[in-house]
Amino acid sequence: MTETASAPRIIVTGGAGFIGSHTVVALEEAGYAPVIVDDLRNSRPEVLEGLERILGHSVEFHRIDCGDVQAMQAVFSQPVHGVIHFAADKAVGESVAQPEQYFSNNIGSTARLAGMMRERGVQHLVFSSSCTVYGEAGELPVDESAPIQPAASPYGFTKQACETLLRYSHRAAEGALGVALLRYFNPIGGHPTAEIGELPLGTPANLVPYLTQSVAGIRSELTVFGSDYPTRDGTCIRDYLHVCDLAEAHVAALRWLERAPGMLDVFNLGTGEGSSVKEVISAFERATGKSVPHRFGDRRPGDVTAIYANAEKAAQVLQWRTRRSLDDCLADAWRWQEKLKG
Ligand code: NAD
Ligand code: WQD
Repeated sequence: MTETASAPRIIVTGGAGFIGSHTVVALEEAGYAPVIVDDLRNSRPEVLEGLERILGHSVEFHRIDCGDVQAMQAVFSQPVHGVIHFAADKAVGESVAQPEQYFSNNIGSTARLAGMMRERGVQHLVFSSSCTVYGEAGELPVDESAPIQPAASPYGFTKQACETLLRYSHRAAEGALGVALLRYFNPIGGHPTAEIGELPLGTPANLVPYLTQSVAGIRSELTVFGSDYPTRDGTCIRDYLHVCDLAEAHVAALRWLERAPGMLDVFNLGTGEGSSVKEVISAFERATGKSVPHRFGDRRPGDVTAIYANAEKAAQVLQWRTRRSLDDCLADAWRWQEKLKG
């Protein structure tokens, strides 16, 4: 859908990032006018060019720190229908070494953004949380009522802290601020046009970009972190969902906030199925016909054995479910990797 003057403006902080950029596409297709706020600390300007090629026009972009209240005045100077807050630092390992940076950015920016919204009467906030808040979940699939474990990393702590601070903001706003807390499981893949995708800067920490870089010859081989876990094949289990499905969930969350203004609720966003690392490798080889050079190494400290979502609440309340298969995810991830190599 092309942008029109009357399309409701949605501020997308971190909108040049992996999930944010795919959500910008989904927002446009749903009739919203996304406004990207991103300081490009973990993304590149080329993402904006990719978005322009997909959408057929440029997207309003402000290269600023979303936690900078002064700078954000310009963004809020036009009417704002809602905010989707992706902007954060997200590397678990880095957060252990630089906890203060993570507290300042992830928690500080969220607190300031909630304050800016309340000052201006902006009613709808969608927040990027993570299944990491569950830690090693006792019962699987994990549902939203599962106990929140003590965070295993400063990063995980920032997600738990942001969920809590937004509950306080919601209460203080007395119905004037609706909040959707979205707990993402493991988003992978990329847009089918291969114009945007996952752009890890430096050595990827996550499985799928490391896997595709190994197949592309950028890395010598993938190391599978542990093959002696108490799972069906000894490797860890996660809930991998297509980033385009995840993007569409943000539109569904906005629609829910419009239907139920001033509410706060939390939703798992996953497929509801667990896949092991070995199963991801097999699915990639099936989907692409390429073999994955890999070895089995030691466990990675901090990894949970298994986690996957009970995805029923999002299906019932948001009327959202994942539509794309693991094979779709991996075929799109490979298409993106081949585009990057080109
Ligand atoms: P990403 O790093 O690709 O995107 C985040 C974007 O935010 C980047 O473009 C970065 O430049 C920008 N940014 C960071 N701090 C900023 C600030 N203060 N002001 C403006 N821009 C800023 O990450 P992603 O994978 O797209 O994740 C988006 C959100 O989802 C994050 O909050 C992350 O914690 C959360 N999340 C990600 C995953 C995952 O596996 N990717 C899983 C669960 C939750
Ligand atoms: C998946 C599986 C690894 C790399 C992380 C963050 C989480 C969230 C999503 C932000 C695990 C294995 C990985 C490799 C491997 N991010 N693996 N070799 O750890 O589930 O979650 O990203 O919110 O907070 O913790 O995802 O992709 O790193 O790992 O064997 O080179 O792949 O052991 O079992 P993870 P991941």
